[in-house]
Parts: sequence; C-alpha cells; structure tokens
Amino acid sequence: MDLGGAYQKGAPIRSLYNFRVLLKFCDELGFFLAEEFFWYNPSKLPSPIEWVNKRKIRVKDAVNTVWWFSKTEWPKANIKNVLTPYSDRMKKLLENPDKYYKPKDRPSGHSISETFSNDNGGAIPSNLLQISNSESNSLYLRRCKLLNIQGHPARFPEKLPEFFIKMLTDEHDLVVDIFGGSNTTGFVAEKLNRKWVSIEQSIEYVASSVLRFLSDDFSKEKITKIYNDIINLGYIGLDSVNCQMNLFDIIKTEKTAHNEAEYAPVRKVDRMPLKRLGVPAG
Ligand SMILES: C[S@@+](CC[C@H](N)C(=O)[O-])C[C@H]1O[C@@H](n2cnc3c(N)ncnc32)[C@H](O)[C@@H]1O
Repeated sequence: MDLGGAYQKGAPIRSLYNFRVLLKFCDELGFFLAEEFFWYNPSKLPSPIEWVNKRKIRVKDAVNTVWWFSKTEWPKANIKNVLTPYSDRMKKLLENPDKYYKPKDRPSGHSISETFSNDNGGAIPSNLLQISNSESNSLYLRRCKLLNIQGHPARFPEKLPEFFIKMLTDEHDLVVDIFGGSNTTGFVAEKLNRKWVSIEQSIEYVASSVLRFLSDDFSKEKITKIYNDIINLGYIGLDSVNCQMNLFDIIKTEKTAHNEAEYAPVRKVDRMPLKRLGVPAG
C-alpha cells in the first residue's frame, strides 16, 4: 500500500493518517507488517506551496511510505528476483577479492566470511526505493493525447509495481490492484506474465487504462471506438481488440454502477476473468 504524506488542513503539521492506517491494518484487521518501504521520488514537485515555496518553513516531501502487509507471518518473497547492480567498488572486489578484502571479525564481533566475495548476480536491495516518476512519452500518454483526454494524474512509475511483483510473485500468480487508476500495475503484471485484476471506480480511468494495451497498429478510429464503448456501454467485447489482451478485466460493482442497465453488461464481463482464472463462475 503506497501512501503519500499529507499536512493537516491550514497548519504546517502532518496528518498521521498513514500511520493510523498501518496500526488499523495490523491491530484491527489482522494483517502483519512484513516490511516498510520508502519510495524516494527525486522528481516530486514541492508541496504544499504555502509551507514549502512561499513561507519556506517546511522542506519538500520526496518519500512515500509503502507498507508491505501480509496475511501470514511468512509471506512468499524472493529478493533474488530484485537484486540491484553491484557498485563499482563491489565489482572490483569480486574481480580480485584478495586485493581488497581479508575475511575477519569486524569490531562489532560480526564475522564476514569468504562468502562475502561470492558473485550473487547483484546486490541486495534496500527498502529505500529510488524511482523517478517522470514519464512523459509513454504509449499511454501518447494515446491520451491522441484522444484529447487527460492522463491519470497520479500514476505509478512502472518500476514501483515491478519491484513488488517480481519480489512477491511468480509467473502465473494473480496480482490485484484495488485502486487501479491507469492500471500501471496490471500492465506491468501482464508484461511479467502474471494474471491480474484491476479495480477502479472511475469509468473514464478504466477506459483510458485500456489504451496501454493496444499495440501500435491500432488506428485512431479503432482506439476511439474502444474508449467510447467502455465509457458508454461499460464494457468491450474481446473481439473488438482482436484478442490482443490475454486477460482484460473490467470489474465494476453494484455500488459503482449507475443503474441496472449499466450493471448488467458489466456482470457479463465480470464473469469472464473469473473463468479465466479458474474460479467457477457464479
Ligand atoms: C492514486 S490513484 C492510483 C493510480 C495507479 N497506481 C496508477 O498507476 O495509475 C488511486 C485510484 O483509486 C481510485 N479509487 C479511489 N477509491 C476507490 C474505490 N473505493 N474503489 C475503486 N477505486 C477507487 C481513484 O479513482 C484513483 O484512480
């Protein structure tokens, strides 16, 4: 769960909501905090303008908290899937361990054995994830421009869901994003050969999220039809995208459908992914 920090209204003091969410999830809902991550986004703009730019009494926020909640104390995870490139110094050490390093006990008493100089294919990542959010020319944005619609204003950089999908799931596992937005998560999951379900309350965001999945050879006319079908009908037939998408799910609930007529066709679509996921329909 990715949560940005926020200030209380009208005062330069922080809201504690993200910490309250954390405690509520663990104390009341039975989740465990497997690990906390901090997503450092160097390209984040300064805000709020009043405290940071105008009065200059607070620094700019550049870190979101990402709570990794688990249902058990031993959730599946494999950091070998998210190793980061070695530093230049470490590369030199691996090339010539004897020159740079002798196995010995550290002053702390911690013993560093010879395995320290083993090449494991990369370094262990830390829980500070430095990922810029500066996408400006993706297929998604180009398609939004083509249709003259606004892209989703709070998209993840792909690298963020990619890190967690790789670390926490295997191929063919199911990835669910309950606040799908432009469906960056589903798009990355698809690329990594995972099944995915994305849930989003705004039909406009659902419709534009589909643009991510339409390959370059789709004409403007066809893209426009697909977008409008979703807005007007609440669904598209898979045939209209020529089965480009292996698993394209639009899930809308009774609560978010505006009327029965809208809900009915959505239900039809709703059952399809469940079948594809091997869950009995109904
Ligand atoms: C921060 S955005 C997520 C953006 C997404 N990670 C992306 O990369 O595009 C959160 C989204 O959650 C949606 N949302 C908020 N409350 C919701 C609810 N109760 N059910 C479904 N979607 C909801 C909002 O419409 C918004 O698009």
